[in-house]
Parts: sequence; C-alpha cells; structure tokens
Amino acid sequence: MLNNTATRYGAVARFFHWSVAVLILFNIALGLVGENTARTADTAGWLQTLYSVHKTIGVTVFALAVLRVVWAVSQPKPEPVHPERKAETFLAEMIHWMLYGAILVMPLSGWVMHAAESGFAPILWPFGQGLPFVPKSEGVAYMAGAVHGLAARVIYVAVALHVAGALKHAVIEKDGVLARMLKGVEAGSPDAGHVALWPALAGLMIWAAVVAVPFVAPVPERAEGAAAPVEQAQLASDLPVWRVEDGSLTISVQQMGAAVEGRFDNWSAAIAYDEESGTGEVTVTIDTTSLTLGAVTDQAKGPEFFDTENFSTAQFEGEISRVDDAAHEAVGMLTLVGQEVPVTLAFDLEIEGEAARMTGTTVLDRRDFGMGAGYEDESTVGFAVKVETNLTAIRQ
Ligand code: HEM
Ligand code: HEM
Repeated sequence: MLNNTATRYGAVARFFHWSVAVLILFNIALGLVGENTARTADTAGWLQTLYSVHKTIGVTVFALAVLRVVWAVSQPKPEPVHPERKAETFLAEMIHWMLYGAILVMPLSGWVMHAAESGFAPILWPFGQGLPFVPKSEGVAYMAGAVHGLAARVIYVAVALHVAGALKHAVIEKDGVLARMLKGVEAGSPDAGHVALWPALAGLMIWAAVVAVPFVAPVPERAEGAAAPVEQAQLASDLPVWRVEDGSLTISVQQMGAAVEGRFDNWSAAIAYDEESGTGEVTVTIDTTSLTLGAVTDQAKGPEFFDTENFSTAQFEGEISRVDDAAHEAVGMLTLVGQEVPVTLAFDLEIEGEAARMTGTTVLDRRDFGMGAGYEDESTVGFAVKVETNLTAIRQ
C-alpha cells in the first residue's frame, strides 16, 4: 500500500522516512568527524573527500525532503497511538515537526553557505556549485554557517528524543508504534479525532527562531577588519611621490583543481615615479592577517602557509622601469614568511593628468617561500599563486 491511512504509514512515507533518516544520521556523523579533525596537510585530502560526500548527501537529502513534504501534506497523518497521553503526544508531534524543519533547514543552510563561499570541497552532483539568488559573499556564508551550526544543535536534541521515544515504544510498551513505521502495520485507532495544530506551531516556531538568530545577533567584527591600517614605508627617492587613493590586492590559488580567490584588505604602497624617465621605486607593505581566502582562510593563515601569527607583514621592495609605453615592471625582493625571494611584477601604468592607474599581475610559486611544505604535489593546493594588483594613485 503506497498511501497512508489513519492507522498506518504507506510504503512511500516509509521509504522517505528511512532513506532521509539514514542519510541525515550519516551526515551528522560526517559533520561531527569533520568538525573534530585538525586541519593539517595530512588531513586535507581526506577532509575534502569527507566534506564533498557530506555536501552531496546533504543536497540529496534536500531533494528527498522536498518530495517528502509534498507527499506528507497530500496524505493523512496517522493518528497518535496514545492520544489520551496529552503531553507525550504533544512532545512526539512537536518533535516530528522539528524533524520536518530539520530536513529542510539543515541542508539548505549548508548549501547556501557553500554557494556563498569559494573554495574547498565541491558538491559531487553535476549541477554546478552555486545557487540562484545566493551571491558570493562572506556575510551570507557567515549567516548560513551560523544557522547550520545552530540547526545541528537542534537536530541532535530532536533526533535523540525521537529515537529514545521510538525505542521506548518498541522495547517497553511493545505497542506497534515502531512497527508501523518499519513494516507498515496498523496501530492506533482511526477515529482518535486528534488535531495537531499546536505541536506543529511549536515545532515550526523553533525553526523560525533558529533561522532568525544570526539576523538579530551581531556579526562579530573580524579582528583583521579592526586592525590599524598598515603604515606606509618611507622612500629615500627624490622622484615625484604618488599617493594611493584606492586599489585591491588579490590572490588566486588552485585548490582541488578549482580557483579560489582571496584578497588582502589591509596594505599600503609607497610609490615614487618619474613620468619622463619611466623609472621609480615602490614598497608595498601587506598585513597578512587581513587575508581572506574563501572557505580556507583559516588554513591559509595557519602555520603551514602564511603563518600570520609569526609573520604578520609581508613586504615587496622594487625598482620600477618602463618596458614599453604603458608596460612597466617592478623588479625587487618580496619578503614573505621570513623568506626573501626575487620577484618581478609586470604592470600597466596609465597616467591621465595627476592620476595614475596601475594594473599588474605576477605568479609566485608557494614552494619558493616554503609554504605548504606538507602539500607536496598539486592535488590539494596548486604551487602557483597568482597575485593581482590594481590601484589608482594621485601625484603629490
Ligand atoms: C542532511 C543535511 C545536513 C546535516 C544533517 C548536516 C550536519 C552537519 C553537522 C552536524 C556539521 C558539524 C557541526 C557544526 O558545524 O557545528 C556540519 C558542518 C558542515 N556542513 Fe553540514 N549538514 C547537512 C547538509 C550540508 C550541506 C547540503 C552542505 C553544503 C552543500 C553542508 C556543508 C557543511 C559545511 C561546509 C560544514 C562545516 C562548517 C564549518 O566547519 O564551519 N552541510 N554539517
Ligand atoms: C533510528 C532512528 C529513527 C527511528 C527508530 C525512528 C522512528 C520513527 C517512528 C516509529 C515514527 C512514527 C511515529 C508515530 O507513528 O507516531 C517516526 C516518525 C517520524 N520520524 Fe523518525 N525515526 C528515526 C529517525 C528519524 C530521523 C533521523 C528523522 C529526521 C531527521 C526522522 C523524522 C521523522 C518524522 C518527520 C516523523 C513523522 C512522520 C509523519 O507522521 O509524517 N526520524 N519515526
């Protein structure tokens, strides 16, 4: 029998219940293992697999959950087996509604978090990684992550109570409650006439609160956002000085074969440049703690890569020379994580009146700086780090 009746769960409802239950329990386990695994070079490969599987299962659960809810609303809900036990029935039904909420909120919050951030483990379904209407945004990813984490706590409690209740019925009361979900047998009375509005509202209110919390709780100020601006280096040059108005310093690395974009929010550049001769000097000072790199920011700042705790600044000092028209290069030394490495930054410089616009790119090899030594090949983190700068500066 495919359909539910007042005393029995049909095959479709049972299929949805058990397929979603198994996948959810498995995903909780994966989430917990992932959460409690240290992020090191040794675990990076397996953590990526773990999260890819977690996300893929989660997205599958979401699809099943939507079908399940559509099915459930088209079906009679079997009557409670003990409607006379008011409190117990209320609790059991409230938890059912919490679980219905969980199977939607849990995967959807995870999915939004994934779609809003770049990098790390991909979903394995061939339907792309993004979601319509979800922008790439740290704020959105933070909010969705907060809902995901809070929802996890709600689901632990709900599942624990739900399973404990099911076991109580099966082991102590032997009243057919578990059997009607397991085997589709009948239990309870068809004319209990029970209306379950309040437990439904209570269960759904809990979800409304979970989803609302990140919106009302203040987003913690990122420590690096609050850091003092990097002080500009002093140049000894007599050439005209240019003051940076605005600009960006971004990096891009290949992670698990996909590009992850990041940026430094806090940096300064001291520039002296003579338009006539096309020569000059530049010193760029970068606060490495201001790095954000998609989902892998913490790993990138950690001891294996930028090691920002021990090396909070990086500096490039170079001599500028014109190559041809707008094409220039700055040849100098980059000091990063205590290593000094020669670097050439090729850039275009366009001057209009008192304003100069520069756009430049260079590709560094992380191994030159001893970064990610544990990641010996490129399967997890590529060797090449593409650095892009663009800025506008005003002649002083
Ligand atoms: C069946 C649905 C899901 C369940 C039950 C679930 C459960 C969990 C749990 C228990 C955790 C660890 C606890 C915590 O972060 O506080 C976690 C973490 C995580 N989940 Fe899920 N999840 C589900 C779906 C998804 C989906 C669909 C995605 C992405 C497409 C996803 C992405 C993540 C990520 C990235 C983390 C790590 C968060 C971090 O470390 O900040 N999850 N999940
Ligand atoms: C070993 C684990 C589980 C057991 C033994 C179990 C057992 C049961 C039983 C016996 C019922 C029927 C209750 C009744 O007839 O009044 C039920 C209903 C339900 N279960 Fe589970 N369950 C388990 C895991 C889960 C999980 C992980 C979820 C979702 C996250 C879930 C969601 C639900 C929902 C939403 C209902 C209500 C279905 C409806 O009446 O429409 N269950 N479960």
